[in-house]
Amino acid sequence: MNGSTADPRLDGRAVKRIVYGAEQIAERVRQLGAEITTRYPDGELLVLGLLKGSFIFLGDLVRQIERPLQVDFVVAASYGSEMASSGNVRLVYDPETNLEGKHILLVEDIVDSGRTLTKLTDLLSVRRPQSLEICALLHKHVATELRYPVTLVGFDAPHEFLVGYGLDHAENFRHLPYIASLQ
Ligand code: IMP
Ligand code: MG
Repeated sequence: MNGSTADPRLDGRAVKRIVYGAEQIAERVRQLGAEITTRYPDGELLVLGLLKGSFIFLGDLVRQIERPLQVDFVVAASYGSEMASSGNVRLVYDPETNLEGKHILLVEDIVDSGRTLTKLTDLLSVRRPQSLEICALLHKHVATELRYPVTLVGFDAPHEFLVGYGLDHAENFRHLPYIASLQ
């Protein structure tokens, strides 16, 4: 694929390269869905999407999980700049669903420093779920602070700033059907 092709979605900005194409993502999401299906043979499963970045991934993923489940969301706000995580995380939307006794699968777009996830899992674990695991579409493998393992990873991401398929830069580019690195 040629990443520098003028895509009307990009508002004139060229992408450096398309890192994962739509078909490649779809294939990996199918595999993840199958893994999740076999990983949870019984019990109640709550797929908890971390907004906003996970919204497209989560929508595609749950349709590949062939067992009963429920969906809810958390919205975490971190203070500070857009490109780096500050580590101060608070919940601005808290799931209505009771987590106690359920398998919680937290779905995240990308793990960078891991600070967001660590704060979030700390907040969620006190609600006594039966299990708490993380499924991330992308993992930069630089995280040093993770207390819960990222059990399922879509792709080991390059250390570049990525956009598309839910990932944004200053709220733009979330709707790209592929994942690209910005120029
Ligand atoms: P962490 O707390 O440093 O792991 O940052 C995780 C959050 O930062 C993700 O949920 C994204 O919202 C954002 N983020 C980290 N890396 C990227 C990137 O390459 N593109 C877009 N957002 C990113
Ligand atoms: Mg973001």
